[in-house]
Amino acid sequence: MDNKKDNFLKEFFKERKTVGAIRPSSKSLGNKMLKNVDFKTSNVIVEFGPGTGVFTRRIIEKMNPSANLYVFELHEPFYKKLKKEFENDKRVQVIYDSAANLRKYLDADHKKFADVIISSLPLTNFDQMLTMRILKSAEIALKPEGKYIQFQYSLNARKLLIKIFNSISIQFTANNLPPAFVYTCKKK
Ligand SMILES: C[S@@+](CC[C@H](N)C(=O)[O-])C[C@H]1O[C@@H](n2cnc3c(N)ncnc32)[C@H](O)[C@@H]1O
Repeated sequence: MDNKKDNFLKEFFKERKTVGAIRPSSKSLGNKMLKNVDFKTSNVIVEFGPGTGVFTRRIIEKMNPSANLYVFELHEPFYKKLKKEFENDKRVQVIYDSAANLRKYLDADHKKFADVIISSLPLTNFDQMLTMRILKSAEIALKPEGKYIQFQYSLNARKLLIKIFNSISIQFTANNLPPAFVYTCKKK
């Protein structure tokens, strides 16, 4: 097992509910998550739950030189690693705080809206009140035509997401362990 996978498994056993996966997501799931992001027009990009950074590195490769990326990670060992890895990229803020507090960080930088939010949070592991708080904070932060892109290992999150977002399209990839669904949610 390579280092990043080994690391992930260790952290999963320490904090099962928060980490929510036994290994980092596959390239195929990353492709599905990022396929619907228009990097040319996205200036404020947000990532919830980067873990070891499998999606983060790809977002950074694709984003505009003038765009900003806000990355929220609540598990300290993951946060510390990513903070160090991206410390020289001024476009990237790695934040040791809950995704529920997104608005606070956008306000501090005078950013009115996020263009897109890419989330790996294990939504159905959380208490439903916390999930709704996080989704509401995402919806409030997004621009009117913004997208919230979320993967999950089941279709159970649909009933939560539809309470907040007006339209949801779902894609599936079997090339991930476990296989995963990608929800692309729009405000209107
Ligand atoms: C399923 S892992 C996904 C990691 C990585 N993006 C991937 O796909 O391999 C979920 C991540 O969300 C983080 N997390 C859980 N609750 C969070 C919260 N409220 N705010 C920010 N991050 C959170 C966990 O610590 C974990 O790293």
